[in-house]
Amino acid sequence: MFVWFFFSFLILGKFLAKVDCFVCPNYLITPEAGPIGVIPSSRVGLSVIPASYDCAYHFLIHPGWALHLSISTHYDQLLGDNITFTDNLGVVHILPTPKQHIDEWSSAPTAIFHIKTMSNTSQMFAIYEFVNVEKKYKQVALNLAVKNTQDYDTLLELIFVYDGGDVKNCQMVGRLSNFLKKKKTSSFNNITIVNFYEVDSPSYLIGNDWSKVSVFSKYKAILTSRNQQTTGELFDASDRGAAYTWICSDCNNFYWTILKFHKSTTTISKAYIELRSLSPTHNTSTLLNYSVSTTLERNFPQLIPSRMFTMINHHSGIAVTLDTSVTKSSTQKWLKPFDGRRGVIFSPSIWDSKTSPSFSFQFEDDDQKFMFGVNVNDVRIATAGDSLTIKTGPTASNNFSYKEFVSDHTEFRTRRESKGNFMQISYEGWDRRSMAIVSFDMKKINCGNAYDLFRLFFFLLFWLCYK
Ligand SMILES: *[C@@H]1O[C@H](CO)[C@@H](O)[C@H](O)[C@H]1NC(C)=O
Ligand SMILES: *[C@@H]1O[C@H](CO)[C@@H](O)[C@H](O)[C@H]1NC(C)=O
Ligand SMILES: *[C@@H]1O[C@H](CO)[C@@H](O)[C@H](O)[C@H]1NC(C)=O
Ligand SMILES: *[C@@H]1O[C@H](CO)[C@@H](O)[C@H](O)[C@H]1NC(C)=O
Ligand SMILES: *[C@@H]1O[C@H](CO)[C@@H](O)[C@H](O)[C@H]1NC(C)=O
Ligand SMILES: *[C@@H]1O[C@H](CO)[C@@H](O)[C@H](O)[C@H]1NC(C)=O
Repeated sequence: MFVWFFFSFLILGKFLAKVDCFVCPNYLITPEAGPIGVIPSSRVGLSVIPASYDCAYHFLIHPGWALHLSISTHYDQLLGDNITFTDNLGVVHILPTPKQHIDEWSSAPTAIFHIKTMSNTSQMFAIYEFVNVEKKYKQVALNLAVKNTQDYDTLLELIFVYDGGDVKNCQMVGRLSNFLKKKKTSSFNNITIVNFYEVDSPSYLIGNDWSKVSVFSKYKAILTSRNQQTTGELFDASDRGAAYTWICSDCNNFYWTILKFHKSTTTISKAYIELRSLSPTHNTSTLLNYSVSTTLERNFPQLIPSRMFTMINHHSGIAVTLDTSVTKSSTQKWLKPFDGRRGVIFSPSIWDSKTSPSFSFQFEDDDQKFMFGVNVNDVRIATAGDSLTIKTGPTASNNFSYKEFVSDHTEFRTRRESKGNFMQISYEGWDRRSMAIVSFDMKKINCGNAYDLFRLFFFLLFWLCYK
């Protein structure tokens, strides 16, 4: 009795599967009928699709909701079979063959899942779910004029962009990859991005105020990370300039090691390269400015104590190299004196007001003497106890020249010069409103000749005595 029942159930099941599973619904599939469902209906795994099947499953998606389709396929397009998903933007995704598992998403208002076969061997199974985006996903509102930092991050395909501040009342206007490529703008002052796939993308989005970026002829962001050497060929023929925001994802220092103007693409009289802190949106002023000069290379390496800054290139073609090494050897290069060298030392707080003003650098060469020149360009001491100190002198002696600034009122707009093997410039303090900008130069003291003369003298003396 039991066995018979079991058999009849099986037969009925088989019958139902043949007849019912791949019927084509002639109605819109909506969340009202249930937020979760399967295709083919009442199945739980890969199912053989009948030959000459041609069915479009139409989904109706409410504002603020999204459709998630998790699809398994085992099929062959060469046999004339085709399975496609068309999202709300009308973009058709042909499901890959031969055997795949893939997730597809669509936002409001509609999506179509289309199965078309000629053969009787293809298989598929899909689970669909209507998802309340507002409830389930954290929303990020960004300001306008988003640019991507990498040309190829396939994960950007998986991030949806909504035009406006929420996903319910606003249109999904594209996937992030496309949105960035087409430089779409928002009809509101903000966009919302949603990453349904919950995979972390390596890209950084830099949101800029459009009015700040549009003043440049070109705007790009360059993303790097620690221990990278990034070389760029940048060109701009306008006075407006091309702006490049450099970002280090996991470090706080750039060593700018090379700046070369290319003669053929540079208008020498008009060319200059500006560096400003942070991004154009922050509307910061210029902190470094280089133009064509025969002694240009003596300005490098130059330390930029920030994880982000913007370089603006005017009337020139340039080659630049920036190094984000955190190794001892790159620090040593920065701290090595050489004849004719110039540079500027900044508190990190000048580049990013969220960072500390403190720094300490000792430029040193035990084998050579230098004339060190120091100009305190600016100093702001916001808290009593903070201080800027400058020491120069011979190493291994306490007899160095010493100057300490303990308040804004310390007379600082005077150039100081002194001889020695080392120059130490440091700022001690934690108040983020404090800062110091100190420029320096170095000139090797030509004691070699004096020493030689000295030797000659003794040699002569010795020779005379001996004689
Ligand atoms: C599958 O459908 C897509 C989109 O409709 C179409 O471009 C493609 O040619 C079709 N492939 C086959 C094998 O029918
Ligand atoms: C599939 O189609 C082939 C011919 O195209 C036929 O010989 C075969 O019996 C069919 N198989 C099933 C399970 O219907
Ligand atoms: C974002 O845009 C919406 C309009 O969709 C607006 O209501 C909201 O105030 C905006 N938010 C911000 C931070 O500008
Ligand atoms: C941006 O900075 C410039 C000069 O530094 C200033 O004149 C201008 O008002 C600033 N704009 C905004 C919107 O803060
Ligand atoms: C930078 O230098 C150039 C050329 O020397 C000059 O025209 C420009 O005004 C300077 N920019 C700033 C912000 O000082
Ligand atoms: C220390 O420096 C001063 C001034 O530079 C100099 O007159 C003096 O002789 C030096 N003393 C020593 C011990 O080197």
